[in-house]
Amino acid sequence: MIVDKSFKMFIETEVPENELIISRTDLNGVITYANDTFAKISGYEPEELIGKPHSIVRHPDMPKSVFKELWDTLKRGESWSGYIKNLRKDKGYYWVYAHISGVYKDGKLVEYKSVREPVAKPIKIKMQNHYDELREKEENSCRIVIYSSCDILDKLKE
Ligand SMILES: Cc1cc2nc3c(=O)[nH]c(=O)nc-3n(C[C@H](O)[C@H](O)[C@H](O)COP(=O)(O)O)c2cc1C
Repeated sequence: MIVDKSFKMFIETEVPENELIISRTDLNGVITYANDTFAKISGYEPEELIGKPHSIVRHPDMPKSVFKELWDTLKRGESWSGYIKNLRKDKGYYWVYAHISGVYKDGKLVEYKSVREPVAKPIKIKMQNHYDELREKEENSCRIVIYSSCDILDKLKE
């Protein structure tokens, strides 16, 4: 059993309505560009993100099949849109609705780009439940959240 004594994992960062989170990657998903909003929301400096695989913000709650579908869609030359829960550097999280598509130069696919929008609260709850079910099926693992008093946590530390 994994006992996570960090409460940061429960802290959500709200994506602002009026700012776009933008990133680009090479054809292997390595970040080539991150705008300041992406850096701010994910808790990194832009230079910490550039050159890293985009999975740097992968949240453990995300099922594998979502990313398989994402990459299968991109490899067919199509665009993908979907809900993603991302991990911040401080282990908190944020939800986005991402639109990912190819960047073409002289008709040749050179990069991928992603533009994200904020997600309404009822959809976040629906997607969290949906992804929990998917993960349970895929990995036979589930997420248990236990709320306890601080003295129980102190005992765990002993
Ligand atoms: C342009 C682009 C943007 C992406 N954005 C995210 C993202 O915000 N969060 C994420 O977890 N994966 C994102 N991915 C998918 C990652 O490349 C990766 O497949 C995913 O994090 C799963 O990691 P894994 O393949 O190492 O298991 C993006 C991929 C591309 C091409």
